[in-house]
Amino acid sequence: MISASSIDLIGNTPLVALDRLYRGPGRLLAKAEFLLPGGSVKDRAAKSILLAARADGRLKPGAPVIEMTSGNMGAGLAVVCAALGHPLVVTMSAGNSPARARMLEGLGAEVILVPQVDGAPGQVTGQDIRAAAEMAETLARERGGFYVDQFNAAEAVQAHEFTTGPEIIRQTGGKIDAWVAAVGTGSTFMGVARAMKSANPATVCAAVEPLGCRPLAGEVVAKPRHLIQGTSYGAVPPHWNPRLMDLSLAVTDEDAELWRRKIAKEEGLYVGYSAAANVCAAAALLGSGRLGPDAVAVTVLCDTGLKY
Ligand SMILES: Cc1ncc(COP(=O)(O)O)c(C=O)c1O
Repeated sequence: MISASSIDLIGNTPLVALDRLYRGPGRLLAKAEFLLPGGSVKDRAAKSILLAARADGRLKPGAPVIEMTSGNMGAGLAVVCAALGHPLVVTMSAGNSPARARMLEGLGAEVILVPQVDGAPGQVTGQDIRAAAEMAETLARERGGFYVDQFNAAEAVQAHEFTTGPEIIRQTGGKIDAWVAAVGTGSTFMGVARAMKSANPATVCAAVEPLGCRPLAGEVVAKPRHLIQGTSYGAVPPHWNPRLMDLSLAVTDEDAELWRRKIAKEEGLYVGYSAAANVCAAAALLGSGRLGPDAVAVTVLCDTGLKY
């Protein structure tokens, strides 16, 4: 089969069993989103938002695309923009790993690094993100480009409701007891949760949050800095639907580090921190006894470890 463009490589990722790393009770399956052309799950949101904007005329052929990114959405947008012929300008907090800026520039994007407000290198906070978003909005006004606005775009959630979720349901034959995912914009978590709960309302949907930074759990944010880049910006995301979340699972920075190494060494999968946090949390949920002994928990390997 010949794919018409890189855009057609976005979607239909494999679901891999982490049977070496997690031996029970139950089984832990992970959606290999790091295999997408931009190297992360965000390719799906980028494709869905840009194709919708092209279809309804908000994005004119050849017009610039502008967005704030932690790096992964930018890479997804860069892939789609290259294939559709749009220039891309992204603003990014300087606290995100330099590997991301290099990849974005390699894909032809203009990258504007925004100084951190209260974070540290590798630890990007909500305030850092807001500063980068303000810069992107200003640029969009000045240059007359299409502002992607991933935190508010319904198409990002729909991408997961209509592709990622149904793919997982097909791949498992519908035998899913729990869905576990970290939350940046919340598009991945909510879109898949919607698909799974409409197929089976009993599916337990668990968000993953760093210990000390758990607004979804209703806790006061005591530690806005954490290692799980691309997620948990210290506030409930704008389009968050609390009814889709059954519980929030806490993961420490130490656990994210440890599980990232374990996933690489025991499964041969070199992934990023949010993927590691997801796997750690899913293993804890399966081991907690809340699900049955034959339960299947599905999570997502959000991005490649080469971005850090
Ligand atoms: C590494 C990583 N993991 C997880 C996410 C969360 O994805 P979502 O925005 O769909 O919640 C992101 C988002 O940028 C990310 O970059």
